[in-house]
Amino acid sequence: MSTPADAQRMEKIVSLCKRRGFIFQSSEIYGGLNGLWDYGPLGVELKRNLKNYWWRVTVHERDDVVGMDGAILTHREVLKASGHVEGFSDPMIDCRTCKAHFRFDQLIEKKGVKQCPNCGGKDLTDARQFNLMFETHVGAAADESSIAYLRPETAQSIFVQFKNSLEVSRKKLPFGIAQIGKAFRNEINPRNFTFRSREFEQMELEYFCRAEEGMKLLEYWKEERLKFYESIGIPREKLHVKTVSDEERAFYSKGTYDIEYDFPFGRQELEGVAYRTDYDLSQHQKASGKSLEYFDEVTKQRFIPHVVEPSAGVDRTVLALICEAYSEDQAPDEKGKMETRVVLHFHPRMAPIKCGIFPLLKNNEGLVAKAKEVVDLLRPHMFVFYDESGAIGRRYRRQDEIGTPFCVTVDFETLGEKDEKLRDTVTLRERDSMKQERIAISDLLAALSVRIA
Ligand code: GAP
Repeated sequence: MSTPADAQRMEKIVSLCKRRGFIFQSSEIYGGLNGLWDYGPLGVELKRNLKNYWWRVTVHERDDVVGMDGAILTHREVLKASGHVEGFSDPMIDCRTCKAHFRFDQLIEKKGVKQCPNCGGKDLTDARQFNLMFETHVGAAADESSIAYLRPETAQSIFVQFKNSLEVSRKKLPFGIAQIGKAFRNEINPRNFTFRSREFEQMELEYFCRAEEGMKLLEYWKEERLKFYESIGIPREKLHVKTVSDEERAFYSKGTYDIEYDFPFGRQELEGVAYRTDYDLSQHQKASGKSLEYFDEVTKQRFIPHVVEPSAGVDRTVLALICEAYSEDQAPDEKGKMETRVVLHFHPRMAPIKCGIFPLLKNNEGLVAKAKEVVDLLRPHMFVFYDESGAIGRRYRRQDEIGTPFCVTVDFETLGEKDEKLRDTVTLRERDSMKQERIAISDLLAALSVRIA
């Protein structure tokens, strides 16, 4: 249950995201387009850090996973075979009073009577199925034969390219194919900021295996994925594993877990980990007439592999990272008076900017030149930000608010003006503890690299 304090916290997070350039409403100057969001200068960095890290641990650091990047526009037959054309729908209700549309499960119920969550109206239509896929036409003729869809999940192109990927990578079971990319769903009621959007990104892995390995690998991937969230700064106690019941689970799945996170608006799904059996490959083999079988060279058997799928949402994870990182504490201002400090405690691995670099004064040539030398030293290795405007305390606060874990200040000691022993040393300040240490410029890169790795 979320409280008024949670709602207020969420409002502050949404406002910070806009004010500091993480996330903007899409097409804002034209009044906005519901359920669509644009990532600003810092949001794009955070999102990229997340995707790069997922790719690193899922593909680069493993021998048993290869990557791919499929087209977004998808052949109608692919989505017919997968079941999306027939069944990828939500039950929709209209309120005849305020004309709003809702998913059936979003209605509120008072004294056993269903009501519109918008106006409280009781004059509601019956539920009807609404297909969530965005339909379009490929080519000049806009007729039945040219219908295509924006993909509702990245998974299907992995299944359709299973044989090609297998042949070129020469992998043996079990092995996986990973993909990060956009997916589109015409959600009836997008809400909770970016949580339920109409255009979003997924990080999906289809891990192919033998039937007898399926249930064990489902457990394995659930644990791996929990470890992943912890390694990007989401504590285990805020993560929950929901076992999806037989009634809720897709009919072809033998087991599904939802990994949930305690968002300020309630406990909600971040990722699904599903054992999808051999359903998808079997469907595509049947519909295309092309063999999607695997040949086991040892047993000389041919069979359709089963698959375990960890499927994560990029945007939901970014939102979880921001919600988890947001905090307000008390810190002294320039004159030592305590004031509220807004901080994003991002894991250094995820932080958009790794290090702020400041000359103590902007009108001192020696300080500015030295600070720019530090920028040149670090820039090839990490994303840094040079700032010379305002008092040092203000500059620290600006970086705290966007989650920069380290700041370096070049001062008169750096120039050797106070103590020759301190020449070419700088102040390294850490965001969370606000502690400062003196460090030689020559040691800076190594010290920071270890902490942001
Ligand atoms: N291939 C399986 C699949 O797509 P899903 O549970 O429908 O499964 C997987 O989606 C993940 O994609 C979700 O756990 C969520 O993180 C993300 N996702 C799904 N719909 C979304 C939406 N409308 N907005 C943002 N993220 C969404």
